[in-house]
Parts: sequence; C-alpha cells; structure tokens
Amino acid sequence: MPPQQDHGAFVIEGGQPVRGAVATAGSKNATLGVMAAALLVPEECRLTNVPRIADVDVMAGVLRSLGAKVEWDGEHELLIDAAGVNPSVPDRALAVSLRGSFAIMGALLARLGEASCPPPGGDVIGLRPVDVHLKGFAALGAQVMESEEWFELKASGLKGASIFNDYPSVLGTQNLMMAAATAEGVTTIVNAAAEPEVQGMAEMLRGMGAKVSGEGSSTVRIEGVKSLHGTEYAVIPDRLEAGTFAIAAAITGGEAEVRSARPDHLTSLIHKLREAGVSVETDGDTLRVKAAEKLKAVTIQALPYPGFATDLQAPMAVLLTQASGVSRVMERVFDNRLLYVDELLKMGATIDKQDNTTAIITGPTPLRGARVKALDVRAGAAVILAGLAATGETTITDIHHIDRGYERIDERLRSLGARIKRV
Ligand code: EPU
Repeated sequence: MPPQQDHGAFVIEGGQPVRGAVATAGSKNATLGVMAAALLVPEECRLTNVPRIADVDVMAGVLRSLGAKVEWDGEHELLIDAAGVNPSVPDRALAVSLRGSFAIMGALLARLGEASCPPPGGDVIGLRPVDVHLKGFAALGAQVMESEEWFELKASGLKGASIFNDYPSVLGTQNLMMAAATAEGVTTIVNAAAEPEVQGMAEMLRGMGAKVSGEGSSTVRIEGVKSLHGTEYAVIPDRLEAGTFAIAAAITGGEAEVRSARPDHLTSLIHKLREAGVSVETDGDTLRVKAAEKLKAVTIQALPYPGFATDLQAPMAVLLTQASGVSRVMERVFDNRLLYVDELLKMGATIDKQDNTTAIITGPTPLRGARVKALDVRAGAAVILAGLAATGETTITDIHHIDRGYERIDERLRSLGARIKRV
C-alpha cells in the first residue's frame, strides 16, 4: 500500500437539520473505469466532471506508472494522453490499493496485446474475486497467467465471442467491453452488469469510435472496430453521493435540493425513501427531499442494478435506525458489508446482525455522539450520517476512506448547515 497520508478526523456536532442546495460531483466509480478506457488510444482524451477525490489521484498515478500523461486542466477536467504507454506493468503499490485499477487490464490487452495487474485491493467488504474478468478475457482469446503476486494477460489478436458472466460484475463487464472494442467480430456479454457506471463506459467507448449497444440491459453487444480515437467525455453524476445527501436531509429533519444528479439512476433509493415516508420529488436533474414527519420501517435488499445499490445500503440502514418499527437490511452483493453495524451500536442503535449479510434494525433509537471509525468509503458515509443525527459530538477517525470517494464532503455539508469540521 502507498504510505497513507493523515487526513485527520471529522468532528460533528449533531442535531442540525441539513437544509439548502448542493450540486452532485462526478461519479467515482464511473471515472475510474473511463480513465482506464483512455489507455485504449495513443491520443488525448479529455474527461470532464471528474471528482477531486483520492481514488482519482491514485488511478492517475497508476496510469502515469504505465507511461501515460495525466494532467488536470481546471478543477474537474482531466487530460489523459496514453501515447507513451508501454510497458504494460503498473506500479504495484498504487495498483493494489485500489479495486478500480483492475480496469487497466481490458484496455491494455486490447491496445498492446498484453496486460498485468496485481490482485486489486479496495474496501474490506467481502471476497472480491476476478474470475468473471479472467474467464471473459480467455473467451476473447487471451492467455491468462496467474500467480499470487500478479495477473498477466497475453494475446495476439482478440476475437469476438459469446461470453456468459457467472455474476453481473460491474468492473468485469467494463473490462470485457474495453477488451472487445477492437476484437475481430462481434462479442456478446450475457448477464452483463447494468449499472449506470457500465452505461457510462459504453458512452465513453462510443465516443472513441466503438460500436457498443445494449448497455443498461443484461446483454451488451460489441461489434469490434479496427481502431479507436481520442474523445471528450463528461462523467455521469455520482448516484451514491447524491443518495448520501438525500439521506442527510431525511435523517436530520431537513429539506434539501440535490442538483446536477440523475434521478433515473436513483429509482430504487427514491422508492425506498418514499416508502419510509420521506418526500422525494424529482425535477429534471434535481431531487427535492423533505424529511418525514414520522419515518416508517422498511426492508431493503442490496442487489445488482436496478436493485437497491449496495453502496447505499449502509447509509440507508442509518436512516432506518430512526424509523418506527423493525427494518430488515439484506446485503446480497457482497458477503461482508455490515461491518459498520458495530460503529452504529457504539452510538446507541439497536441492530441485530443475524449473519454477515442480514441486519434487523429496531427503531427509532436516539443516536448519541461517540468516537467511531470510517471502515470504508460507504461505511464512512454512514457514520457521518449517524453523527449528523446524533445528539452531542461524534468523532470519526480513518477518514482517508471517506476522502477516497466524496469530494470535500465536510465543506459541502457545512454549506447545508451541518456542523462538521476536519481536525
Ligand atoms: N464477483 C465475482 N467474480 C468476479 C467479480 C465479482 O464473483 O469476477 C462478485 C463479488 O465477489 C461481489 C459481486 O460480484 O460479491 C459484485 O462485485 P462487482 O465486480 O460487481 O463489483 P466491483 O466491480 O468490484 C464496483 C464498485 C463498487 C460497488 C460494486 C457493486 C468500482 C471501483 N467499485 O465494484 O464500489 O460496490 O461495483 O456495485 O467500480 C464503492 O464505491 O464503495 C465500491 C465498493
């Protein structure tokens, strides 16, 4: 792992309603994928609406270690010129610190006929195999070599194939779309992930001259083209950040406008918030959220898109600690993504973790300030939300996890009236 910078801690004085308007930043996970896609061409790509978050800096480091030029041009525009890319081996320490780094595999394989990456890291949320990626690469004609330290791919000319994903993996689907973009013939990816971040990858690839269709459904079709070119691409809004702001308003008795969002990417959250009694209205790219008089318990199941987003499971669970009755939270995407529950218990929540994937929340329970940890990026968002709703002072440590995925979250919450500071 690269040396971890000290990001300090967040101290929150809870009980202040979140009120006002906030603009959503670009999507972390969509950005990481399309940054890798820029490796497909020896020409410049311009990405706009890129969030200023730690994960983007690490991914930029990964691309630079491969020989790409990566430069900021203004606050949210990133220029990537991968003309100088070769060799195909990234800086190991940077690549292992980020799950998204594995997206370089599909792009490098297509461009250079070889690719390497260490087993990617990322959050501790359960097993995170890459078998879907590897099986797909092999189906396209790549030779796959695997040791404890590295995954390596080699191919002399990829051929379009019919690929069946055992699981609709988001990065797996993105990786295979990149690899297939210049393969000879047609590739179909069956049981593809439908997430907006996959749809974003399709748009980026089309901008580069690829022939991709079916994204957003369970079958993606790619007709291989001879060559691709540089493009300009605007990253989609971060649905997970928009959802976090919406829940911040709902849990503090507040009222907020979350702007520059894609409400159509948040259908599952909007339904569950309404079911819980929260008023959510959409108007173009804006979500208007008004807290419920009385929150009702609901059941949520985190599932692949368009199911309830696993990345909003922890934030939603915090809201449900304030709902009357018994709520069930089921995590069906990752096998260990309820670790944050222990942090919420320190703050007075009543949550019975039945196993690593099912939690029963009984509410409402008043939350009180405590010293808690941000265990990963979304568990970090969850303890911020709990701190905003709690009485007294909450100190959140390990906030480098939060800075991985949320741009200046403290400043932006302060602009909505929250009392949160970085110390
Ligand atoms: N899986 C397999 N085989 C594979 C790949 C995945 O079995 O080859 C399983 C995993 O074990 C897991 C499930 O499939 O149980 C989902 O994994 P997926 O591959 O879809 O997730 P990912 O692509 O590694 C991305 C996001 C995650 C987000 C998930 C699900 C990036 C960099 N990460 O991960 O984001 O939770 O999709 O939507 O795009 C986050 O932002 O906090 C985060 C963890």
